[in-house]
Amino acid sequence: MADLRNNFVGIKSPNPFWLASAPPTDKAYNVERAFKAGWGGVVWKTLGEEGPPVVNVNGPRYGAIYGADRRLLGLNNIELITDRSLQINLREMKQVKMNWPDRALIASIMVPCEEEAWKAILPLVEETGADGIELNFGCPHGMSERGMGAAVGQVPEYIEMVVRWCKQYTRMPVITKLTPNITDVRKPARAAKAGGTDAVSLINTINSIVSVDLDLFAPNPTVAGKGTHGGYCGPAVKPIALNMVAEIARDPQTHGLPISGIGGVTTWRDAAEFLALGAGNVQVCTAAMTYGFKIVEEMISGLGNWMDDKGHANLEAITGRAVRNVTDWQYLDLNYVAKARINQDLCISCGRCHIACEDTSHQAIMKEKDGKRHFEVMDDECVGCNLCVNVCPVDDCITLEAMAPGTVDERTGRIVTGEYANWTTHPNNPAAKAAEPAE
Ligand SMILES: Cc1cc2nc3c(=O)[nH]c(=O)nc-3n(C[C@H](O)[C@H](O)[C@H](O)COP(=O)(O)O)c2cc1C
Ligand code: SF4
Ligand code: SF4
Repeated sequence: MADLRNNFVGIKSPNPFWLASAPPTDKAYNVERAFKAGWGGVVWKTLGEEGPPVVNVNGPRYGAIYGADRRLLGLNNIELITDRSLQINLREMKQVKMNWPDRALIASIMVPCEEEAWKAILPLVEETGADGIELNFGCPHGMSERGMGAAVGQVPEYIEMVVRWCKQYTRMPVITKLTPNITDVRKPARAAKAGGTDAVSLINTINSIVSVDLDLFAPNPTVAGKGTHGGYCGPAVKPIALNMVAEIARDPQTHGLPISGIGGVTTWRDAAEFLALGAGNVQVCTAAMTYGFKIVEEMISGLGNWMDDKGHANLEAITGRAVRNVTDWQYLDLNYVAKARINQDLCISCGRCHIACEDTSHQAIMKEKDGKRHFEVMDDECVGCNLCVNVCPVDDCITLEAMAPGTVDERTGRIVTGEYANWTTHPNNPAAKAAEPAE
């Protein structure tokens, strides 16, 4: 089987699946069971400074979004960092690391944005034998109101400053965990790099109100009649996380900076996608909270089988392979032409493709032929938008087929040239016109 061993900024683990800092990693009991199930590493639930621990609400702290089959798509939480004492956590971390020397154990940390606070906690963590630290600059609720978490992650200058302190006061590798609650994720990533971080990890949770209780007229989860925004995670956030990972991976200023990919990883395929977009490993929270620790077994076997099938010997063979194929819109090939094709053997005549195309796209799918219900694409109207593919309930029933060079696009009457041409040189682009030499 393919070699799944992972070396992330010098931290070794038997596979690239780490549990993210969250309830699954809150105590030795959980982490021991997670390691038994096969997880390659854990980022321990975020530690706070010494003194009385934070206090969580004693009511509901989660809300969720479901698909039609009640499968959980998005999870929202209003939990804070660990509410157990620092000393207990440190003691347990040390014991767990001793019991499981081959697994990665990372300490997530969030203390006030003061040099003394970071200087004080780092030696305590280092003493546990932890393999590295992750700086929690992402928590979007509760802690951010106290000037920590996302409040730091939204100010690149603060990120750079805290990372610098950490690099100064510890020899452990530093992973900077970024918040997605920001317009351009490249800015905090660049700041972390400038501060000397060994890696970034992303994403933490997204500001969200998951739903409103229409009897109470209050956001869910509702605590004694009031709600607050929480952090959104789970499968629903994966597209946002993938884009942010890719943005950092392809930014010339941060290209090559190790990335731990987080956000909605539920299957081996999700993990492979993060790796392909430049992540060196992945972290998982919601999938473990929804399906339990054993979900890692399928992640490991699925990733290994796929790599074997494709002939990828190790993780390095896939890491970052898709990054060079992520581009800006202006560089997409405008001479590429595709048309939708319906496989009549698979079609169940539900009509969803017709309605979607008729009402909201290009009126390119007929619904009747020879007086019978029949769905077929009309090439002279189809723009190849893919909407019908996305709404069809049958797998692979509609596919988009590229037109071969030399054929005529019936919609435009133009021959498909097969030659690459993008917006930067298109005659309709005023900027391209301005760039043309004067006659
Ligand atoms: C209940 C809950 C508590 C969390 N607590 C922390 C935390 O203490 N520190 C942290 O860095 N991230 C925390 N997170 C965020 C996760 O580590 C992770 O970044 C996020 O959930 C996205 O991954 P996922 O889609 O696999 O859940 C928490 C998430 C949840 C659901
Ligand atoms: S690809 Fe778009 S335009 Fe073509 S048939 Fe499907 S929905 Fe209509
Ligand atoms: S949506 Fe798919 S199954 Fe339904 S009519 Fe169209 S092609 Fe057939």
